[in-house]
Amino acid sequence: MVQNREVWGSKFGFILAAAGSAVGLGNIWKFPYIAGENGGAAFVFVYLICIAIIGFPVLIAEILIGRTTQKNPVGAFTALSHNKFWISIGFLGVLAGFLILSFYSVIGGWTIGYVIETLKGSISSFNDPAEAGELFNALVGNVGWNIGFHTIFFALVMFIVIRGVQGGIERASKIMMPILVFILVILIIRGVTLKGASAGVMFLWVPDWSKITAESILIALGHAFFTLSLGMGAMMTYGSYMSKKDNVVTSSAQIVTLDTLIALMAGLAIFTAVFASGLDPAAGPGLIFQTLPAVFSSMTGGTFFSLLFFLLLAIAALTSAISLLEVVVAYFVDEQKWNRKGAVIIFGGITYLLGIPSALSFNVMSGVTFFDLNFFDLIDFIASNILLPFGGLMIAVFAGWVWSRTEMMAAAKEGAERLFETYPWFEGIWLMFLKFIAPVLIALVLLNKLGFSITG
Ligand code: PHE
Repeated sequence: MVQNREVWGSKFGFILAAAGSAVGLGNIWKFPYIAGENGGAAFVFVYLICIAIIGFPVLIAEILIGRTTQKNPVGAFTALSHNKFWISIGFLGVLAGFLILSFYSVIGGWTIGYVIETLKGSISSFNDPAEAGELFNALVGNVGWNIGFHTIFFALVMFIVIRGVQGGIERASKIMMPILVFILVILIIRGVTLKGASAGVMFLWVPDWSKITAESILIALGHAFFTLSLGMGAMMTYGSYMSKKDNVVTSSAQIVTLDTLIALMAGLAIFTAVFASGLDPAAGPGLIFQTLPAVFSSMTGGTFFSLLFFLLLAIAALTSAISLLEVVVAYFVDEQKWNRKGAVIIFGGITYLLGIPSALSFNVMSGVTFFDLNFFDLIDFIASNILLPFGGLMIAVFAGWVWSRTEMMAAAKEGAERLFETYPWFEGIWLMFLKFIAPVLIALVLLNKLGFSITG
């Protein structure tokens, strides 16, 4: 069976697919608005540290577990431990894939919807964000609009994943990722050449340390997981199609660098434009859908840039969504011996249905709450704030404490012999971060997210 399992066509294809998974709504929608809400540069600094000391070491471990076992998360933990507890961690990953994809597709649908609205000319005639907000509320308040675009987005995800690892995921990433970077560069050029753009650059560059609180540190840490697609087996699954000739450490470094650069570039493009128009950088989740359309309305060529921007967002969302579905599909293909097409249709279909109450959370179900959260926020909270950090913690603990040191290091060195010889200190540092630093810091985030404040 292992011989027939799919593989990436090239190392470059793997990097683009994994970077495609990492670069998503997290980078272009969420990162700018949480940076905006938490004071800009100082928050960015903390986020960069979290990525370096937790994201990077855990990413290496996660990809390595996948590559060594050539399995989905459940199969991978079964192969390495045969222990029920660890196998159930694999199942939690598959569950997180279901949950995240169900609501991610709703926002993915909005991005396509905004491409269409831009084409219809409705995005570039606002006088202020409040007007743009009215359109936003009208659109997401409309059941047909919401479910319609959720359906279109999901159909695209299924269409790509059905075509397999090389012919679907890798091919789509190779086409879409360069377009994404190209669009982003155009938007940055537009942003920094606007009058008054320098205030936006300063906002991202000059830190105001008084803005750093325990809460913002925890937000940065939690986001480090989400943005790197860590903690639920997406990177494990992508790693499982990777060749043993390739270097896991440098590949992980490239993925982290691309993801971080793209988040910073998106921040630059957005904040230069927001500051140039004198708007509020701390507008929250509506920054992209309400503040930016007002910005586009005030700039020459606004319709064109709006079209590029929402296209960028749709592409980023799509290459992440396919990695979420792939985790679920890989489990049913590897462990339950389903064929790919059947697994995509049945489990994609179930995930799509689970997305419907999320789509309805913005209209007919907005009054239905669980622990004060609507359905959308509840699923987001369980998946992003509990399952991902918990999964990341478990991956760090597994690699740091459970997996036999000799076996793990032999696996890590395959394809990376030179690196470990040239930098002999790297091994010790990586292990120290996996064993101590990452687990302690992640445990703090988790406790805080669950409501135990560490600041008292
Ligand atoms: N990394 C993606 C983003 O930033 C989200 C994601 C999380 C994708 C977990 C896959 C797994 O939008």
